[in-house]
Amino acid sequence: MNKKIATTLSLMALTVSSVNVFGEGVKVEHLGINNTLVRITEPAKYLIIPVQEKYEDDATVNVIVDGKLEETIYVRLARTKTDYTVPYDLSRFAGKNVVFDIVTGQGRNSVRDASEDVCWDGLTVADTFDTTNREEKWRPAYHHTPLYGWMNDPNGMFYKDGVWHLYYQKNPYGSKWQNMTWGHSTSTDLINWEARKDAIRPDGHGTIFSGSAVVDSDNTAGFGKDAVVALFTSASTSQKQSLAHSSDNGESFEIYPGNPILTLETEARDPNMFWNNKTGEWNLVLAHALEKEMLIFTSPDLINWTLESSFGKGEGAQEGVWECPDLFELQIPGTDKSKWVLICNINPGGPFGGSATQYFIGDFDGKTFVSDTNPDGTVPTKWLDYGKDHYATVSWSNAPEGRRTVIGWMSNWQYAADVPTTQFRSANTLPREMELFEDADGELHVASVPSPELLALRGKSVASVSNKNIGDKPLEYKLPADGICEIVLTFHTQDNDLLTFTLSNNYGEKVLMKYDNKNHTMSVDRKNSGVTDFSDKFPAITTAPTFEKDGKINLRIFIDRSSIELFGNNGEFTITNLVFPENPYTTFSVSSKNGNAGIESLNIYAINAK
Ligand code: FRU
Repeated sequence: MNKKIATTLSLMALTVSSVNVFGEGVKVEHLGINNTLVRITEPAKYLIIPVQEKYEDDATVNVIVDGKLEETIYVRLARTKTDYTVPYDLSRFAGKNVVFDIVTGQGRNSVRDASEDVCWDGLTVADTFDTTNREEKWRPAYHHTPLYGWMNDPNGMFYKDGVWHLYYQKNPYGSKWQNMTWGHSTSTDLINWEARKDAIRPDGHGTIFSGSAVVDSDNTAGFGKDAVVALFTSASTSQKQSLAHSSDNGESFEIYPGNPILTLETEARDPNMFWNNKTGEWNLVLAHALEKEMLIFTSPDLINWTLESSFGKGEGAQEGVWECPDLFELQIPGTDKSKWVLICNINPGGPFGGSATQYFIGDFDGKTFVSDTNPDGTVPTKWLDYGKDHYATVSWSNAPEGRRTVIGWMSNWQYAADVPTTQFRSANTLPREMELFEDADGELHVASVPSPELLALRGKSVASVSNKNIGDKPLEYKLPADGICEIVLTFHTQDNDLLTFTLSNNYGEKVLMKYDNKNHTMSVDRKNSGVTDFSDKFPAITTAPTFEKDGKINLRIFIDRSSIELFGNNGEFTITNLVFPENPYTTFSVSSKNGNAGIESLNIYAINAK
């Protein structure tokens, strides 16, 4: 080849990128081994993005609109196969020029030629995104789940005008943690949830971590009477607290231009604020995560906060970071007195490993929280739930009739990203009402009572038994064919008996729930519950103290497709665990070691779920 032609060819190779126009409405240009441009060539509502979960180094996707960097998102673009797709909303850029500048490998070690990856063929524009449930086996029938994608903590919950608002930590671009955004769902009955559009998206100060929202009925912040004001953590190199407000009942939020409104020299997050009637001020509790303490602030206007005190250094469970606080007052039953409860979610360091919710009972004067102590002066460690899948639990602000209603994230950071669902990952617990109760020794604890709305779930009765002795042979009852049900049971026993309640199917999958009358404990064993091998931290037996001393127990057991929530003695003990049976549990059996226990009543209800 003559020299001149060779030079021209190599120049062409340098200047002309390889252009593929595969998917509808996009033009893909590979500019280098780890840089690809995707131009939107036809107007549409969404860019549909193919995702493959197994590669951990997310592509960096810079969204450039009319030449300006709009945002950067991180996506596990499919390389060898598409697990599922996610939609990127283009509608807000209508009429503008949109280019995705994608970097598929970051550091020197991960530089790779991505031009053969399957994602490029799969990128396409569309006006719809199909959210039909594809997780028939394990998507809960009556628990809140995101339509698609990752979810962790519940955030910014408030009640207004008959509507329960639930925001949550969401990744809109995949079913693993990333791109933290406040997703939003609403409900009028705490059971049926409607997915709304994302409420707060990452901005220049960072992604949107957990936080709270209040209804500012006296317009203390100046955003208008009844404005909804949200406070959240902006997470980037450091964690700062930022504000947003809404004048359309939490549907859309305006970011406060003066953000961040609160900064500290160390990591602090998950601001939870509330109006304090006694002091006529706002209070804020902020998790000083690594210091393992909670910081307490006051404010007249939700914008200017004064640090008043801290609580918790060296107290209670200290193994993991302290996150997602809440602080509220509860009446002591049968008295006109009250106590304050400080919720402190901790990860790891829960009683069965990983994440869990501890709480402290004490007094709060608007500035300082002082915990009750044991007779020896130490601060007791108390757990709100004794399962493995109860985390980030916080309460609704402005709930009606003085209710203190909470909801948790039904997973555990030990394996949340590995549970075997992909369209959605994961679900919330059922809503619960917080109440104080005294145990047999006169010590105060917090009960988690199933919210009254849950009674509406009770459908057809499939078993109804009263006053029956549990003799030598196990009693067996059929569950509804889909396994979804509520079991309501009252029993009594004595003499160090051990009762076993078993959920099982014909395929050897089972969950054992045992009441131990010697130690006054109830345990749930999910070791053979179904699919458990996605994490060695998943198979487990979790055990709760039952607090009673007389061997009389009532249980409400809520079984959904992938969860079992057990409420004992009107919520005095609760156990929340995920399960992934390949087939529904279809039998409930009851046995007693001594053979002299009695069922006072047993009812099994199918569930009325939409
Ligand atoms: C708790 C948590 C919070 C944080 C959020 C980030 O699960 O770690 O402390 O705000 O998740 O998604």
